[in-house]
Amino acid sequence: MLAFTRKPNSAALAFIIAGSVWFVVGTIYGLFSAIHLVSPEFFDNIPALVFGRTRAIHVNTVLYGFVGSLLIGLGMYYTPALLKRRIWSEQLGWLSFMFWTVTVLSGPITFSMGMSQGREYTEYLWIFDVSLVLAVLTMVVNMVMTILRRKENLLYVSVWYFTATFLWVGGSYFLGNVMWNPSTGALPGILDSIFHWFWGHVLPGLLLTPMAVGVAYFVIPRITRTPLYSHTLSILGFWTLVVFYSHIGGHHIVQAPMPNWLKMISAVDSMFMFLPVIIVIVNLWMTWRGKGGRIFGDPAGKWIALGLFWYLIVGAQGSLQSLPEMQVITHFNNWTVGHAHIAILGFSGFLAIGGLWHILPMITRRQLYSKKLVEVQFGLVMIGLTGFFIVLTIAGLIQGESWYNGEVIYRVLPELDAYMVLRAALGMFIIFGAFIGLYNVIMTIKKGKPIDSVEHN
Ligand code: HEM
Ligand code: HEM
Repeated sequence: MLAFTRKPNSAALAFIIAGSVWFVVGTIYGLFSAIHLVSPEFFDNIPALVFGRTRAIHVNTVLYGFVGSLLIGLGMYYTPALLKRRIWSEQLGWLSFMFWTVTVLSGPITFSMGMSQGREYTEYLWIFDVSLVLAVLTMVVNMVMTILRRKENLLYVSVWYFTATFLWVGGSYFLGNVMWNPSTGALPGILDSIFHWFWGHVLPGLLLTPMAVGVAYFVIPRITRTPLYSHTLSILGFWTLVVFYSHIGGHHIVQAPMPNWLKMISAVDSMFMFLPVIIVIVNLWMTWRGKGGRIFGDPAGKWIALGLFWYLIVGAQGSLQSLPEMQVITHFNNWTVGHAHIAILGFSGFLAIGGLWHILPMITRRQLYSKKLVEVQFGLVMIGLTGFFIVLTIAGLIQGESWYNGEVIYRVLPELDAYMVLRAALGMFIIFGAFIGLYNVIMTIKKGKPIDSVEHN
């Protein structure tokens, strides 16, 4: 029974297919939210489609569903591959998949009915928090057992990143989601903000970032057929990420009355965060130096290279906007939404998609169905995202300047109209890209040429 759950790499493939589906679902909900900001009456106040519900579905589905599932699927493939061993238990991998997917699926279902814990990025109901933590714990067991039974002595840095992600995420999710308080998933007062935003930055920083970086470290040396420039730098990048990222959540609530020492720690460590960012970029850039042709000529390479470029912008922007002086203008407006999109889609999403196109043929033993479609998808998503960044940053600056001058919200809204229309229109490019990606994944699995008959790097 359930023989398919024993097939090698089947759980990894399940995560990858799910991630591609969530990319489509999540971005469509982004469009619903964007339409609402252009024309609040458009959906005639259908409860399931009001902004407060679609936004939560959009955000959680793209984060945990699209980027999260894809990166987990990729790690479940490359970790055992780097250890020269099959994953300890394929069936346990399926169990992780089931728990993770139940949580992601609960978003569109429960949020559209108005049932949510109402804290951004921690909206899932308690029972689905439990499911997510179980996914993480089963993954820890599977990865640790795979490492213990490995045939390769060297623990390449991608293995560090992927395994460590799960070692720290279970506990941080439990804390940030206040899971010991099932009815609300919250604490009273300002303390809640601190716990909330502790998870608010562990989610992008210590769940998505390490898995995304792990993919880049796996793919770039393979595409360039060059050993990694420096293993020492790679380990330095890992530890600086752990040290500086784990307590910078406070930079989301600089405007709140939390203790000054906590604001100080979050600002100082946010500045230092530029270190792990630059270390990863320099190490990978030195690896591909002189071989840019291979990177940019490869369907996956382009995504990874541009993903690292977005990482550079995100890191520089992030460090600056952690300063209270800068936040006077950039907080409470679309500037942050712009940062969020280049961070989650541009950095971690691009690396996930790049990893997908590199690793899918290795898992399925089939050649990509269409490299041309990968190019088209790249163009569409790149146009949409670059447009998002420009439009949202300008809209944010208009808002920030207005708040600074004491302007009232309703007088600023008309000035934002054009930007909100543009954002909705640009979003269509990303949505088409998501559809094309899903189509290419399905067709590769069904109709891709068997890999043994073609050359594959
Ligand atoms: C996979 C691609 C995408 C990712 C990873 C993504 C990610 C996010 C994230 C993290 C936020 C929260 C931002 C914040 O609170 O600062 C957000 C908000 C939002 N996104 Fe996306 N998004 C994607 C695609 C789209 C698309 C295609 C659209 C529109 C068609 C869109 C429209 C929106 C809107 C309207 C919001 C709410 C902004 C607000 O509260 O003012 N997103 N998205
Ligand atoms: C590397 C250094 C980084 C620093 C110093 C940094 C800093 C910040 C700061 C200060 C904010 C809050 C802005 C405000 O509310 O005014 C923020 C928001 C955000 N950042 Fe970053 N960031 C960094 C990297 C990243 C990365 C790599 C990701 C994603 C993988 C990311 C995802 C986000 C998201 C989604 C938000 C929006 C949160 C919300 O809904 O308000 N950031 N970042």
